Amino acid sequence: MEEEFASRVALTSHSGLNAIYPSQDPEMISFTGGFPDASLFPSAQLAASFQKAMQNQQAPLQYQVGEESQELRSLIANLLAADGTKTMAKQIMMTQGAQQGLDLVAKLLINKGDGLIVEGPTYIGALAAFDAYEPTYYTADMADDGMDLTAVKRILIQHQVKLIYTIPDFQNPTGVVMSVEKRRQLIALANKYDVVILEDAPYRWLRYEGSAQPSLKSLDTQGRVIQLGSFSKILAPALRLGWLTASTEMFGRLQELKAGTDLESSNLMIQTVTEYLGSYSLQDHLQQLRHNYRRKRDMMVAALQTYLPREACFTVPQGGFFSWLTMPKGFDLENVQNTQLKPNFHVMVIPSTHLFPGKGRRNGARISFSSVSATQIDLGIKRLGNGLSSSYQKKYI
Ligand SMILES: Cc1ncc(COP(=O)(O)O)c(C=O)c1O
Repeated sequence: MEEEFASRVALTSHSGLNAIYPSQDPEMISFTGGFPDASLFPSAQLAASFQKAMQNQQAPLQYQVGEESQELRSLIANLLAADGTKTMAKQIMMTQGAQQGLDLVAKLLINKGDGLIVEGPTYIGALAAFDAYEPTYYTADMADDGMDLTAVKRILIQHQVKLIYTIPDFQNPTGVVMSVEKRRQLIALANKYDVVILEDAPYRWLRYEGSAQPSLKSLDTQGRVIQLGSFSKILAPALRLGWLTASTEMFGRLQELKAGTDLESSNLMIQTVTEYLGSYSLQDHLQQLRHNYRRKRDMMVAALQTYLPREACFTVPQGGFFSWLTMPKGFDLENVQNTQLKPNFHVMVIPSTHLFPGKGRRNGARISFSSVSATQIDLGIKRLGNGLSSSYQKKYI
């Protein structure tokens, strides 16, 4: 049967998404999933909001044919405006998480073989979504202040590119924030070379220190930035609610593509979140999230400083869920994970192999601190440090 599958299936089956799902080993401490801390979900408030949504006179269980989300879209426009990004509610579309936005934008722009620039490393789920449209990937490596724009420029000069995909705030998987200078330069490059920028910003409101940089969307001068947002990390992923904002021309087409994919997002979830935002303070909830995740980030950084071998480098994120580990060139983290870390040290990270389109980079890994407890962070990073040290010594000393 497999020979009858479309060619896109061969690509997506290698996306490596399975690597982030929990292991069966009861002793395992996993730093793989970018899951929020479940103890921080506003469960009671969401349950009350759901009840209210169900009592709503306006048929919460019916198809809404495009009318379902007006109020929520206005609330999101207000949240974006307070963050410096002016958007009209009518240019906001609800999506099934930011993940659907990734799929729709690729569907809108990418024909087989079209050029697509991604950060290296990048979000594993974005590659899984893009793979299905069979793009030609070009990778611009991540630096401490965001993607390497010299590389972006070189690629744009040499190749036809349609789309640049970036996560400028607390990038998944490195935790890096793009500097404001780079944001301006990236917009200028996109204008010059006539490219669309896809700004994926699900962690933007989870900043633990420092001040926010302007969003790419707010710096956009020609309507070429599509921005994605999500309630997954700030309320709960099971809502499957995100949003997309785009200029009028692209927006209409994206709406048509969305209708062909799932008709509309769940009206029940849209009404639930609308009720939630009307009854409770999202800002108070965000403060609580930031307080808790900042503590975890601090514990993670302290443990990394204490336990990792001196050959290891890691990023200290100012927000979001991730730190990025780099071992010296030649060290194969995927192999070490499979042969040492998992079976002998009962600890897991996401090896860099899956986070580059070419799968060629093997000496890095994403470490997520969001969903592990304080004890697990200390013990797990100790195990990771021991596993890395012993593997490094065996091979190199
Ligand atoms: C950078 C990035 N984009 C998009 C997503 C998808 O999120 P969701 O579809 O739950 O909004 C994630 C989830 O981890 C992510 O890290």
